[in-house]
Amino acid sequence: MTSPVFLYGSPVLRKVSSDIPEDYPELDELIDNLFETMYHSDGIGLAAPQIGKSLRIFVVDASSLEEEDSSLSGFKRVFINPRIISYEGELTVYNEGCLSIPDIREDVERESAIHIRYCDSDFNYREEYFEGMAARIIQHEYDHLEGRLFTDLISPLKKRLLKRKLTSISKGRVEVKYRVKHA
Ligand code: NI
Repeated sequence: MTSPVFLYGSPVLRKVSSDIPEDYPELDELIDNLFETMYHSDGIGLAAPQIGKSLRIFVVDASSLEEEDSSLSGFKRVFINPRIISYEGELTVYNEGCLSIPDIREDVERESAIHIRYCDSDFNYREEYFEGMAARIIQHEYDHLEGRLFTDLISPLKKRLLKRKLTSISKGRVEVKYRVKHA
């Protein structure tokens, strides 16, 4: 099953998500839904708020990029109730996009490495260190759980230049091959 992707301007994208209880009844369905919706939209990460659920979970699969970046080989994970416990390394810039903000890409500065605690799909606690592109993808998805979007991290001038485009996205005026929903 796939879900519509909620677009920029949807209130759910601005909420801080709640932890998922260990006995959450539809966890497997939610995980499948996130992966299927992400693959269907050609994304490499998707967070629950993007399908309208204010829950602390996101999925990533960047293994398709391994030819360009060998560090991403096998980088497929489910992150439940994640907490980034430290940001490390140096600031790097990369041109990011987001399924909730189609057709906009902007340079975003982020830390090059992170330590993160989370539960996997079997609710086993894990603590892991990520760097490079994996660390960037995780930070982008993690921000969704905090109600933050990458457009919050660009300069006020750039944001002003994007204002009309963002307004039209929030009204559902987008041309993408996946299902979308707007506020
Ligand atoms: Ni995103």
